[in-house]
Amino acid sequence: MQRHLISAADLTRDDAIQILDTAEEMARVADRPIKKLPTLRGRTVVNLFFEDSTRTRISFEAAEKRLSADVINFSAKGSSVSKGESLKDTAQTLEAMGVDAVVIRHGASGAPYRLANSGWIDAAVINAGDGTHQHPTQALLDAFTMRRRLVGRDAGLGQDLAGKRITIVGDILHGRVARSNVDLLHTLGAEVTLVAPPTLLPVGIESWPCEISYDLDATLPKSDAVMMLRVQRERMNAAFFPTEREYSRRYGLDGDRMARMPEHAIVMHPGPMVRGMEITAEVADSDRCTAIEQVANGVSTRMAVLYLLLGGAVFDAKNAPAATHTRTEEK
Ligand code: NCD
Repeated sequence: MQRHLISAADLTRDDAIQILDTAEEMARVADRPIKKLPTLRGRTVVNLFFEDSTRTRISFEAAEKRLSADVINFSAKGSSVSKGESLKDTAQTLEAMGVDAVVIRHGASGAPYRLANSGWIDAAVINAGDGTHQHPTQALLDAFTMRRRLVGRDAGLGQDLAGKRITIVGDILHGRVARSNVDLLHTLGAEVTLVAPPTLLPVGIESWPCEISYDLDATLPKSDAVMMLRVQRERMNAAFFPTEREYSRRYGLDGDRMARMPEHAIVMHPGPMVRGMEITAEVADSDRCTAIEQVANGVSTRMAVLYLLLGGAVFDAKNAPAATHTRTEEK
């Protein structure tokens, strides 16, 4: 494993499988009465969020706390960043406080890479989403969810996703989830098809290791998992499709469309969902939709990433001691 996690493309097949297997061990900790391990006791992790987030921020915080790290939350709103402070100055301030890892979400593609390679800080850097570029822990938690559902919780250990057919639908141009997933799923041997209006596909998509289709109905029967993505309105500066109704009609997943999927196939969504746009409430609330499961799996996956980046070896839940300090002591 490298020292930082900047892009899903940096992970080898062995790295990815090690993270997914470690995440399964971490998930066992969630089944215990005390869901806490002493592993990162005395280590400090900063969550540096320059962009809005619900799931990712809370999920990282939960993962850090379950590993007993000291957690500092920083959001750009209400900080000196709104007074014009640069990323460099913010980073050096954190360095001066002695942090061991920085989890960063930033609107600019490449910000985590800059932070990791600039020499401003010594800490391990984990990308929690940068612009339209990458969101590697999302890809890992998605792969974890697919492996569990499509291969099996125990049967999946040590396995990749060879031959699994994954369809990703929606705003590929402005999103970072599709890009990260294509990279990781390719490394894990899955066959990926992207479905989107031509206007929501990036230039150079031909070189991505996946198929492209404009026909959702034709792709659904050949999918083991269908991942619906949000249209990223906040990143759009033009009209990319005629109307929302027209978009939903062609690229939205409703009950009728879901019925075209094979019986074992799952519907995935990284959140936030815009019900009525890319997914109907009927599909979002159905048993086949793993959106909530993905959130739970996100905590285990991020625990695994933090554990491995901050120097852990093979993790064995059975023999790991529980954290000895209780909530009262922490106060
Ligand atoms: C995604 C993101 O922020 O890239 N959400 C997430 O991390 N769960 C996708 C989105 O915003 O649509």
